[in-house]
Amino acid sequence: MFTTKTSLLQKTSEGLEPKRGSYWITTFGCQMNKADSERMAGILEKMGYKEAEAELKADLVVYNTCTIRDNAEQKVYSYLGRQAIRKKSSPHLKLIVAGCVAQQEGEALLRRVPELDLVMGPQHANRLETLLNKVDTGQQVLATEDSHIIEDVTTARRDSSVCAWVNIIYGCNERCTYCVVPSVRGKEQSRTPEAIKNEINILAAKGYKEITLLGQNIDAYGRDLPGITSSGRRANTLTDLLHFIHDVDGIERIRFATSHPRYFTSRLIETCSELSKVCEHFHIPFQSGDNEILKQMSRGYTIEKYKRIISRIRELMPYASITADVIVGFPGETNDQFQRSMDVVEEIGFDQLNTAAYSPRPNTPAALRFDQLSEPIKVDRLRKLNALVEKTAKQRNNRYKGQIEEILAESINPKNNQQLMGRTRTNRLTFFPQKDSLNNSYKVGDLVNIRIEEIRPFSLSGNIVI
Ligand code: SAH
Ligand code: SF4
Ligand code: F3S
Repeated sequence: MFTTKTSLLQKTSEGLEPKRGSYWITTFGCQMNKADSERMAGILEKMGYKEAEAELKADLVVYNTCTIRDNAEQKVYSYLGRQAIRKKSSPHLKLIVAGCVAQQEGEALLRRVPELDLVMGPQHANRLETLLNKVDTGQQVLATEDSHIIEDVTTARRDSSVCAWVNIIYGCNERCTYCVVPSVRGKEQSRTPEAIKNEINILAAKGYKEITLLGQNIDAYGRDLPGITSSGRRANTLTDLLHFIHDVDGIERIRFATSHPRYFTSRLIETCSELSKVCEHFHIPFQSGDNEILKQMSRGYTIEKYKRIISRIRELMPYASITADVIVGFPGETNDQFQRSMDVVEEIGFDQLNTAAYSPRPNTPAALRFDQLSEPIKVDRLRKLNALVEKTAKQRNNRYKGQIEEILAESINPKNNQQLMGRTRTNRLTFFPQKDSLNNSYKVGDLVNIRIEEIRPFSLSGNIVI
């Protein structure tokens, strides 16, 4: 759907040509959005745009937005306000809203911010060039219709030269009653194992060492692909995919996120423990420690099942780190029910936990309930939970003291150029000197053994073991 507006074509010696200047992308939200932004940056560079020095100097600005909670959504409006003012004095500025707010608000966003040139949902990220070409003909463009996601044929401009995200499944078919993702990211679409392996082969050839497979519900991978094995099992599961991609030479580490407890199988856990490149870090949100709330959330598992998954992981990979998401203040949540989430945090001892107060979202069943909790109750529960998380995460952290950890050097520490930084297999950020005691230098991309000497809440430091 298009609406006409003044043309922004510029006169050049060859005739009428769109202006190619500098671009800026600000990314909100999850890894899915970060991966989309990298692909959009790749498309813009291929088109001839150069990265801008600053947001307020760019000729083309993309806000890749998130709407998971209301405060995430509101952020983008304040950013847009500044750019809309700038557009009055720099009419050539191209202003784009991509991502989940774009999908949710669609045409309403164009009406609310008439300075916008393009509003595009996440399924359209790979079509950025086509959409910008339409903008160049003087139209205000809206791209939010359901679309089959075309294979990523462009070269993403990745932020790291060592670690890369690889989407394996887009969208989500779950119907968690609080969550806006299915309505903004659409139906599940799995990429074929061959397309995924092809992308990983290309990454390995470019020198990438670590890949993170991405999906909102990654355990659903392959449900929409054809194929049954001789034993009657689906032929394309996450487990099969891990086996299929494991032999790519040059790739040293494989991660995946986000896992859903409903579909997290014992077979997957066993595969992770058997395949040496799969790192011992599992992000498995539990959302609530109370079975009645889990049912009202339509999560499809009990907290007992969740605990069995964690026990099995720890049985096979005792050193594994476990992280999760949890929501406090779901409609009707009683104090006792909240306490059960606290008990789970205490009992499991997470390495890190993303906590959030429930936020009613458009087009979700839980938002229509009459038993919404007041803000002060939600804030109070969040504060109590965060205090507990801090305590338990600190205890977990202590296990690193004196340990030798394998670190993949990802970059130079921006605050100290004598140091490298990377992560443990368990995903803990770690800093270490570029040189060992014999004055040998190490570089980005190296796997280095580090003895951990200092422990901070979110990072570790140590020295190279030779
Ligand atoms: N696909 C993942 C999570 C995606 S959203 C999963 O199924 O676990 C990331 C996190 O945001 C969720 O795990 C949840 O904890 C939180 N979240 C989602 N909707 C929310 C809402 N309406 N209010 C508060 N937190 C929410
Ligand atoms: Fe949202 Fe549930 Fe899908 Fe996760 S699994 S994205 S929480 S609907
Ligand atoms: Fe946000 Fe969209 Fe991700 S709503 S969390 S950016 S899928």
